[in-house]
Amino acid sequence: MSESAAGDTRLAGRRVVLGVSGGIAAYKAVEICRRLVDAGVHVAPVLTADALHFVGATTFSALASEPVRMALFDTAEPIPHTRLGQTADLVVVAPATAKLLGKYAAGISDDLLSATLLATRAPVLVCPAMHTEMWEHPAVQENLATLRRRGVHVVEPEEGRLAGGDVGAGRLASPASIVEAIAAILGSRAGRRDLEGVTVLVTSGGTREAIDPVRFIGNRSSGKMGHALAHAAADRGARVVLVTTVERPVPALAEVVKVESAQEMHDAVMARMGPVDVVVMAAAVADFRPVAVAEQKIKKAGGPPRVVLEPTPDILAALGASKRPGQILVGFAAETTDVRGHATEKMLRKNVDLMVANDVSAPDAGFEVETNRALLLDPSGRVEETTLMSKLALADRIYDLVVDARAHLALDERR
Ligand code: PMT
Repeated sequence: MSESAAGDTRLAGRRVVLGVSGGIAAYKAVEICRRLVDAGVHVAPVLTADALHFVGATTFSALASEPVRMALFDTAEPIPHTRLGQTADLVVVAPATAKLLGKYAAGISDDLLSATLLATRAPVLVCPAMHTEMWEHPAVQENLATLRRRGVHVVEPEEGRLAGGDVGAGRLASPASIVEAIAAILGSRAGRRDLEGVTVLVTSGGTREAIDPVRFIGNRSSGKMGHALAHAAADRGARVVLVTTVERPVPALAEVVKVESAQEMHDAVMARMGPVDVVVMAAAVADFRPVAVAEQKIKKAGGPPRVVLEPTPDILAALGASKRPGQILVGFAAETTDVRGHATEKMLRKNVDLMVANDVSAPDAGFEVETNRALLLDPSGRVEETTLMSKLALADRIYDLVVDARAHLALDERR
C-alpha cells in the first residue's frame, strides 16, 4: 500500500462509519480517519464513552466528514444508529476491544456504536486490539469466530509493544494495512454499475401451502439470500422486481410483489417475465401442496387428518421451457447429499444458465444464517466452489458470472 490512499478509486465517494472503542490504540484511529478523508471517503465517526479516555472527540470532529456521534438518543436526530447503519457502505471498528467484540457477538446494542453494528446491512470490518492475555482468551477467540461465521471481516492484530511496556500479540494493525483492507472490501463492490439498463427478477423466501385456514406446509427460508440478491442487483444499477414471501428491507425503487403460495409465485413471475433480462430463483418453493384446502380449521377430535398432496407448478422449469434468446436464468439447488450431482441434474432438466448449489445441511450455509457457500455450475461444465461468505458477497459473485454470461451472449449475437 502506498503511503497515501489519495486517488484510490476503490475509496473515493464511499461512506464509512468509523467506530472507535476504548483502547490505547484509539489514537491510531485518528490516522485511519485522516487517510480515509484524504482518499475522498465520507467518514462518520462514532466513539464509545470509553474511547474518550484515550482520544478527544474534537480531534475526530475536526478531521472527519461529520461531527463525532456518541449518543444513542439524540434530540437533533432521534435514531442516529439507523441512519448511520443504513447509509454506510462499510462499518469499521478500530480499535475493537474485547468488550466491543463480546457485545457485537451477543447482539447487545446498548450504545450508538453497538446499535449501529446491528442496524447495518453493509459489510463490517473489526480490527481488534488488546493485551495478549485478553486476545488469546477463549471467550474473545470464540466471539471472533462467531463474527467471522456471520461474514464480518477481521484485520488481526500484530505482535509488538503494548500499553504498559508489555510486548506480545494484540497490537492494532497499522493504519496503512487497515485502510488497505477497507479499500479491498469496498473495491469489491465499489463503482460497479454493470447491471445498468438490465431488469433482474429475484424470488425470495419460502412458499406456504395451506392445509386449512391456520396451518400450512412451509420451509425454513428466511429470505436473506433472495433479498441480498435484490440489493446487490440494485447496487449494480439493475431495475429490480422482487417476488417475495417475506417482509424484509427492500431496495429503494424495486417493484415488490408479495406472494404466499407456489401458485401465487408462479403467476406473479410469469406475468412479469416479458421485459426481464435475468431471473434469479432463490426462493424455496414447495414441491407439493394439499390437493384440497379445508375451509374450516381441522379439529383435533377427528383424529389425524389424511392430507393428500399434489405437485406445485415448477416455476424454474416453466421459465427454462419458455426462455427467450438473451434471457439468463439463475437457479438455486438446496441439497443435503451429492450436492454437485443433484444440482447438475436440476440445471440440465430445467434449462438453467447458472446453478447455485448450496449444501443446506451445513450449519453456516443455506437457510436462515447470514453466510453461504456454494458450487456455481454452468452447462458448459464450469464449476466454481466459493468460500464461506456473506450472502451479499455471494450475490455479487453470482452477478459477476451473470455479467460475463451476458457479455458472451452479446458477442455471439454480433458474430
Ligand atoms: O432464504 P434463506 O434463509 O436465506 O435461505 C436461502 C436458501 C437456502 C433458500 C437458498 O439459498 C436456496 O437454496 N434456494 C432454493 C431452494 C429450493 O427450492 O431449492 P430446490 O433444489 O428445491 O429447487 C431448485 C430450484 O427450482 C430453485 O431455484 C427453486 O426456486 C426452483 N423451484 C423449485 C420447486 C418449484 N415448484 N418451483 C421452482 O421454481
